[in-house]
Amino acid sequence: MDNTSKNIAIRIKNVTCSYGGKPAVRNASLDVPQNSICAFIGPSGCGKTTLLRSVNRLNDLTEGFALSGSIEINGENIYGNDAASHVEALRRNIGMIFQQPNPLPTGILKNMYMPIKAHYTGEKKYFYEKAVEKLKTAGLYDEIEHRLDRTALSLSGGQQQRLCIARALMLEPKIMLFDEPCSALDPIATYKIEDMLLELKKERTMIIVTHNMEQARRVSDYTAFFYQGEIVEAGRTNDVFFNPKTELLDQYIRGRFS
Ligand SMILES: Nc1ncnc2c1ncn2[C@@H]1O[C@H](COP(=O)(O)OP(=O)(O)OP(=O)(O)O)[C@@H](O)[C@H]1O
Ligand SMILES: [Mg+2]
Repeated sequence: MDNTSKNIAIRIKNVTCSYGGKPAVRNASLDVPQNSICAFIGPSGCGKTTLLRSVNRLNDLTEGFALSGSIEINGENIYGNDAASHVEALRRNIGMIFQQPNPLPTGILKNMYMPIKAHYTGEKKYFYEKAVEKLKTAGLYDEIEHRLDRTALSLSGGQQQRLCIARALMLEPKIMLFDEPCSALDPIATYKIEDMLLELKKERTMIIVTHNMEQARRVSDYTAFFYQGEIVEAGRTNDVFFNPKTELLDQYIRGRFS
């Protein structure tokens, strides 16, 4: 990709990941510029989730997982020698959204307070105002303002996912990782999330894993195509989709295999 290193928020360099000695990602390198969205696309089992989760060291908890190479966040190698002691701070700065919305079975506002309660002491009014601001960013506030104390499980799937994104925003992450955030949602709920991603991009860098080619085209600035653990092509989304260099990517985009 075509940016100078000072504009790079996430720099993945020669990363190889394995589970129990079996490689899942091979020698992957990728730069994600600040305030952009990068889509990870590719068939099932090709390593997208593994690499995504490596960006906030979530795989550390998986037995038998090993990673070589480096991942720099704003110039700092998160797999450097003393980096393990900063993992908690790293995760605070990187929001993660999963395929299935995962609100806690408690009130909507309580869900919103959960991430910041552990890290800040502050007045309830401050928490409340921040929660309202983030719910507005997620386009959710108007839909639920009269039932903020009701359980989050009373929300629709799309609303739950927007709540999870709003909740992640409470910590003001500069980087957000999304693993197929819309795959359980209907098209309208999907569009609402895509609109939000475009809004969030003004101040954040994001990676989104998606099997939805239209979605990758609509929201991302850059796209990385994975195949059997390797990044086969990466570049500006328009180039990747409209001028694929490999037959493999061309076939994948045309839906010849999935
Ligand atoms: N916890 C794990 N233990 C062992 N192997 C794993 C684990 N997680 C993933 N793998 C293996 O690593 C490879 C890459 O999996 P990964 O989940 O990263 O693929 P993916 O591209 O996200 O696939 P999908 O599109 O189906 O979500 C696969 O062969 C998978 O079986
Ligand atoms: Mg996956």
